[in-house]
Amino acid sequence: MNNICLVTGSSGLIGSESVSFFSNKFDQIIGIDNNMRMQFFGKEASTEWNTLRLQSEVANFKHHAADIRNLNELEVIFQQYGSDIKLIVHTAAQPSHDWAANDPITDFTVNANGTLNMLEMCRKHCPKATFIFTSTNKVYGDTPNFLPLIEQEKRWEISESHPYYKEGIDELMSIDHTKHSVFGASKVAADVMVQEYGNYFGMNTAVFRGGCLTGPNHSGTKLHGFLSYLMKCAITGDKYTVFGYKGKQVRDNIHSWDLVNMFWHYHQAPRGGQVYNAGGGRFSNCSMAEAVEMCQIITGKPMNYEYTEANRIGDHIWWISDVSKFKNHFPEWHHHYNIQDILTQIYAATTARVGAH
Ligand SMILES: NC(=O)c1ccc[n+]([C@@H]2O[C@H](COP(=O)([O-])OP(=O)(O)OC[C@H]3O[C@@H](n4cnc5c(N)ncnc54)[C@H](O)[C@@H]3O)[C@@H](O)[C@H]2O)c1
Repeated sequence: MNNICLVTGSSGLIGSESVSFFSNKFDQIIGIDNNMRMQFFGKEASTEWNTLRLQSEVANFKHHAADIRNLNELEVIFQQYGSDIKLIVHTAAQPSHDWAANDPITDFTVNANGTLNMLEMCRKHCPKATFIFTSTNKVYGDTPNFLPLIEQEKRWEISESHPYYKEGIDELMSIDHTKHSVFGASKVAADVMVQEYGNYFGMNTAVFRGGCLTGPNHSGTKLHGFLSYLMKCAITGDKYTVFGYKGKQVRDNIHSWDLVNMFWHYHQAPRGGQVYNAGGGRFSNCSMAEAVEMCQIITGKPMNYEYTEANRIGDHIWWISDVSKFKNHFPEWHHHYNIQDILTQIYAATTARVGAH
């Protein structure tokens, strides 16, 4: 074996998409995932089904149930594969704002220390590998909420005269002097460290700051996985709660395949230490109200939802990622799946998984 791709969080949404995507591009795919998502969010968020699916579908996939916080466990894996590792896609994380506030130490040790462990393993065993990190737009904290937003019938929008109107928010927005939430702060620590391993050590590291990442393989749950959980409720009839902003908050949504395709383009011509906003952009976005409407049309039945005045702390009112920096660096890349495609796929996959119509 001399061409290995290593994926952390390999049973999660982005990790599992990476395993499938890269399986015919590398000799072997090594997955690291200890199903900590179940510990975070309970049984319904378990990613074990996805581990089993990958093990049966992807012939060159090898799973390790290691914990990225445990350097000794990582050392064993990296010693085994060494410089054959050409690409690392690091997605393992505690991904929720609300959860992080209840246990900041676990959140930080997974998100920040875990990322540092991965960077060090890469520097020690395969320093020439490409290192991809899935960061988040929450590193910008609540700064976007102070933009001049206009209330429309079904969504908040930015004023047409604003520079962000055309393409969305770019990477130059400050990540300082803002309320990040505990989760946002642990991701900032990791994000900056990944940049540093590129800028200081000259490694091929890249930070992808995701908007809403989504797709049919998300184990959606109340605290994480917006569209996936929304569609699950639309199918089962479980009550969905909309938090604040009149239900008009706007998120951009990128299909996991489109994001992983970004990683692939980057890996073929890496530029160390770069930061890219990575979301659906103007191509794929919706407000909460619009998403509910689309779910109702797709399932053909009304949703059972309620509205609560209090918004989630640090939740964005309007976020559209400007992906033009990435497109300038990699002009061949473009979005494939819009919001309609995404919801239709989630509907099909969720119906099959939860078995209800
Ligand atoms: N989903 C989104 O909307 C979104 C948005 C922006 C950024 N991100 C970031 O993208 C990345 C991937 O997100 P996702 O939606 O695929 O998450 P996910 O929860 O579906 O997948 C993460 C996986 O990591 C595993 N994991 C967690 N802690 C671990 C540990 N200590 N050791 C080993 N494995 C561990 C989990 O079991 C899970 O399977 C995360 O870093 C997240 O912060 C996600």
